[in-house]
Amino acid sequence: MRAVTWHGRRDVRVEEVPDPRIQKPNDAIIKVTSSGLCGSDLHLYETLKPFMGVGDVLGHEPMGIVEEVGPEAGDLDVGDRVVLPFQICCGHCWMCQQGLHTQCETTQVRDQGMGAALFGFSKLYGEVPGGQAEYLRVPEAQFMPIKVPEGPADERFLFLSDVLPTAWQSVAYADVPKEGTLLVLGLGPIGDMATRIALRQGCRVLAVDLVPERLARAKAVGAETIDLWAVDDVAEEVRSRTNGRGADSVVDAVGMEAHGSPVAALGQRVFGVLPRRLSSAMMARVGLDRMTAIYTAIDAVRRGGTISLIGVYGGQSDPMPMLTLFDKQIQLRMGQANVKRWVDDLMPLLLDDSDPLGTETFATHRLPLDQAPTAYQNFQQKQDGTVKVVFKP
Ligand SMILES: NC(=O)c1ccc[n+]([C@@H]2O[C@H](COP(=O)([O-])OP(=O)(O)OC[C@H]3O[C@@H](n4cnc5c(N)ncnc54)[C@H](O)[C@@H]3O)[C@@H](O)[C@H]2O)c1
Ligand SMILES: [Zn+2]
Ligand SMILES: [Zn+2]
Repeated sequence: MRAVTWHGRRDVRVEEVPDPRIQKPNDAIIKVTSSGLCGSDLHLYETLKPFMGVGDVLGHEPMGIVEEVGPEAGDLDVGDRVVLPFQICCGHCWMCQQGLHTQCETTQVRDQGMGAALFGFSKLYGEVPGGQAEYLRVPEAQFMPIKVPEGPADERFLFLSDVLPTAWQSVAYADVPKEGTLLVLGLGPIGDMATRIALRQGCRVLAVDLVPERLARAKAVGAETIDLWAVDDVAEEVRSRTNGRGADSVVDAVGMEAHGSPVAALGQRVFGVLPRRLSSAMMARVGLDRMTAIYTAIDAVRRGGTISLIGVYGGQSDPMPMLTLFDKQIQLRMGQANVKRWVDDLMPLLLDDSDPLGTETFATHRLPLDQAPTAYQNFQQKQDGTVKVVFKP
């Protein structure tokens, strides 16, 4: 089959790889019909080189049609139309039963000290072949697949794999008080969708980015936007719009590759030229992120407010302003989204033919797999109006 594979920093290729096969009785194989490109893929593309293997198949936002099922795949049938969560989880362990599917005790990558395995996401998360491919092996198929009805276009449901539950969790964890103000940092797919969800829940949303078309998308759905380049100090701007106090809650949908301080980028470049074993260990031990977004969040949240980190951070020794965090009495919540936990909240909005979250028009680009190298580049460089790419293998 054809698949998008990793070859090095900013080097992805579309290659022939072996077809996936059923390996365990509770596996299934799906024929992928749509597969998203995510901001998280950009970390693999740019930063996480020490944890990648040449030829790793990328992608963790797939949906498709069930092609084959193992004998223990539960009620899954050949021909079912399904979306797959980005994390691999069993549904029956203690963590899954708490709704903490990203911590699944059946699939935790213990040799790396990490949580649940993820599709297409480096050795840190189990090096499981991903979904930017013609076919995908689905482990834990008795639980994983989210069945969706025939009829609407793939895009109506595709974002259940990641964007929708991630954005939903980011807003839930932000714990915005009734009619409160939420500051959303970063208007990529995650921040954009978090904005839509928060507005729907009755929040006032202030939304920050530096890419004109991303700001325009947020404004079009009702957010008050702030252009990072147009203000001297985002936190000061937020206070000026919130009676001097700051936002009740902040969603940081930027993460470790923020525009701003180049310190961590430098660190990663230095680690990048070290021998592989040493560099993984060093990055893990003394890793630093570009901290601009989280520092902005800490500054811009009001006293007693809540910060929800949904953008990914990967460092181990990032300096945190503990005095400010403690004195302002800030609550901080974070983590990968527990996809299955939020499906029941989201499904009614997706089955509503008025499409209240605008899922069917959310993607800016629908492309054949062969165009993945250009799509990754354009998405990273924010060229060609690229906000959300959906591959059609
Ligand atoms: N926690 C999870 O489960 C989960 C799931 C999916 C994605 N993510 C993470 O969410 C983050 C966003 O993903 P995305 O797909 O929207 O990607 P993205 O890279 O398109 O979005 C990031 C946005 O932040 C903007 N930005 C950069 N620096 C900024 C700054 N200092 N202030 C404000 N905005 C700034 C960029 O212009 C961009 O629009 C990534 O870190 C991704 O890994 C987390
Ligand atoms: Zn994703
Ligand atoms: Zn589990």
